Amino acid sequence: MRVMVTGAPGLLGMEMADLFERQGHEVIRLNGHKQLDLRERKPVLRFVEEVRPDVIVHTAAIKNVDEAEKDPQGTYLTNTTATANVAMAASNVGAKMVYISTDAVFDGEKNSPYVESDPTGPINVYGASKLAGEQRVKELCERHFIVRTGLLFGLKGRPETNMALNLLNRWRKGERVPAAVNQACSNTYTLDLARAVEIMTDTECYGTYHICNKGQASRYEFYTRLCTLAGYSAELVELAQAAAIRVARRHKNTEMSCALYERTFNDEMSDWQDAAARFIQEYKREYLHEED
Ligand SMILES: NC(=O)c1ccc[n+]([C@@H]2O[C@H](COP(=O)([O-])OP(=O)(O)OC[C@H]3O[C@@H](n4cnc5c(N)ncnc54)[C@H](OP(=O)(O)O)[C@@H]3O)[C@@H](O)[C@H]2O)c1
Repeated sequence: MRVMVTGAPGLLGMEMADLFERQGHEVIRLNGHKQLDLRERKPVLRFVEEVRPDVIVHTAAIKNVDEAEKDPQGTYLTNTTATANVAMAASNVGAKMVYISTDAVFDGEKNSPYVESDPTGPINVYGASKLAGEQRVKELCERHFIVRTGLLFGLKGRPETNMALNLLNRWRKGERVPAAVNQACSNTYTLDLARAVEIMTDTECYGTYHICNKGQASRYEFYTRLCTLAGYSAELVELAQAAAIRVARRHKNTEMSCALYERTFNDEMSDWQDAAARFIQEYKREYLHEED
């Protein structure tokens, strides 16, 4: 397949592009707005018309929830308008489109894992702009997969905006990091998500799916697990309340069920603890050059 990946220098985009390439697909990487600004419709339509991909994996977005809150207009332009442009371009050439969405489309008040049919109800600009992106994809591109996922961790992307790498660097220097105890979700390893998306794009089972590692953890629990797996003291993670360390409103708990994905594609997602352990192993190999 010829696969076009938007946001290819990003945390998830790079993981996706690398994985599709390893699987023997031809990959066209879109390297950010300086190469092709997805907010501009005509150049996007023209580019996709020339490249004619079989699949477009659209990861490009503004993901910083606090920045999004401060600039709603710019955020909608990137997360909604650019997504509509990509969806239109995909439809014009008959490509399948994967739109990476988020658990932030929900309100976080449910007491059990969110399923795809649950009502949405974003509580911040980021979630609302991504939900509007979902709606545009449904309207504009018939052959779509909408993939909602939780907080992502992985080794790829730009180091300065890679949350997990930044945490590990701070702990390595002995810095204490605050982590919210009242903000939980299905934390997800980018490698597991990329693998699942590759499986999905080989089918015609279009629709909306939750793809995440199983279970839920608060930021405090998740950071503590990463910190101790990496060999640092749990005391480097400080218990905090989300409101004390964030600008935008945060969700209490957005745990999602990935059962529909598992049933439809006959695949199993691992739990977040297992994924975190594999991530730290990979980190130690790549960054600390330690063997298992
Ligand atoms: N990270 C998470 O925890 C998380 C959780 C749930 C869902 N998601 C979703 O997963 C996707 C990937 O997130 P990520 O963490 O990989 O993001 P990321 O590391 O910030 O990468 C985003 C990429 O999008 C590109 N981009 C932004 N605006 C663009 C534009 N106008 N035109 C072209 N490219 C543009 C950026 O490049 P330039 O800045 O150079 O333009 C960057 O390469 C997003 O859709 C996000 O909403 C993320």
